[in-house]
Amino acid sequence: IKTIGVLTSGGDAPGMNAAVRAVVRKALVNGKQVKGILKGYTGLLDEEIIDLSANDVSNTIERGGTMLFTSRCKEFMTEEGQKRGAEICRKHGIDGIVVIGGDGSFRGAQKLAALGINTIGVPGTIDLDISCTEYTIGFDTAVNTAMEAIDKVRDTSTSHERCSIIEVMGRNAGYIALWCGIANGAEDILLPENYDYDEQKIINNIIANRKRGKKHHIIVNAEGVGHSTSMARRIEAATGIETRATILGHMQRGGSPTCKDRVYASMMGAMAADLLCDGKTNRVVGYQHGRFQDFDIDEALAMVKGIDPYQYQVAKDLSKHC
Ligand code: F6P
Repeated sequence: IKTIGVLTSGGDAPGMNAAVRAVVRKALVNGKQVKGILKGYTGLLDEEIIDLSANDVSNTIERGGTMLFTSRCKEFMTEEGQKRGAEICRKHGIDGIVVIGGDGSFRGAQKLAALGINTIGVPGTIDLDISCTEYTIGFDTAVNTAMEAIDKVRDTSTSHERCSIIEVMGRNAGYIALWCGIANGAEDILLPENYDYDEQKIINNIIANRKRGKKHHIIVNAEGVGHSTSMARRIEAATGIETRATILGHMQRGGSPTCKDRVYASMMGAMAADLLCDGKTNRVVGYQHGRFQDFDIDEALAMVKGIDPYQYQVAKDLSKHC
């Protein structure tokens, strides 16, 4: 391997810059050249490719977003797009690529690997929904951002003696909702994975809490459950308690990464560069059982993980008043 390419793909996540910086600096230390592919697979197909030096990634580790920009590329899901992508890599002398993104992006990396371009995936998503790893770049920052926002909503909810439904991101996964539910001491947590929720139970819970003297009622709702606004209307009608829905949205994806996201992203980016330099391909970096490891992409994509039932039970028990 002489030249390593790096791209970010899918939804951006705080810490992606730290990962890009680590790929660039580690590859340079190993005597390789580095090219940045802008705007994910879209930029690859459009040949938006730049040379990257150690200087080019200075002052980026603390910045949110991705300095390489990102996209979700439909064309790269086709065989024709993938073949063209591999040809463009060869044309630009890129013999190995680090793909920073989620499961969808890894599927693209898998195809490039099959077409002879060495590829390593690095898990970058705020959703934490990649099965081979207990950590994904951006989750820590996003969950802290959401937690702080929920604390603020709770202040005003208490002043007005309201019920608040706060919807957090996560696509089909409830990790952000579960962590915030625990960290914010939410009265109710709604997760797509544990769709056992019964609106009447929540209504009864709100009424009981109000009788007990609680001034607010915080419901953390996962995006995968959704419908927060209509839920608020129904709860207000049934309880007579003013109820507001707040959808936190994309603010959860922005901001300066936390220390954990900077350090873990740096470790993963560096490891990805080292794996390529060792001639490895079709691998994905993950964090499991307290250490950074790499997995075969095919095996990684076939793995399944879910919400820890004990963690969910704890979240529910800690909101009870027995
Ligand atoms: O995957 C990250 C994520 O922020 C999800 O939580 C959310 O469902 C989705 O991306 C939103 O995507 P977009 O930025 O395209 O609206």
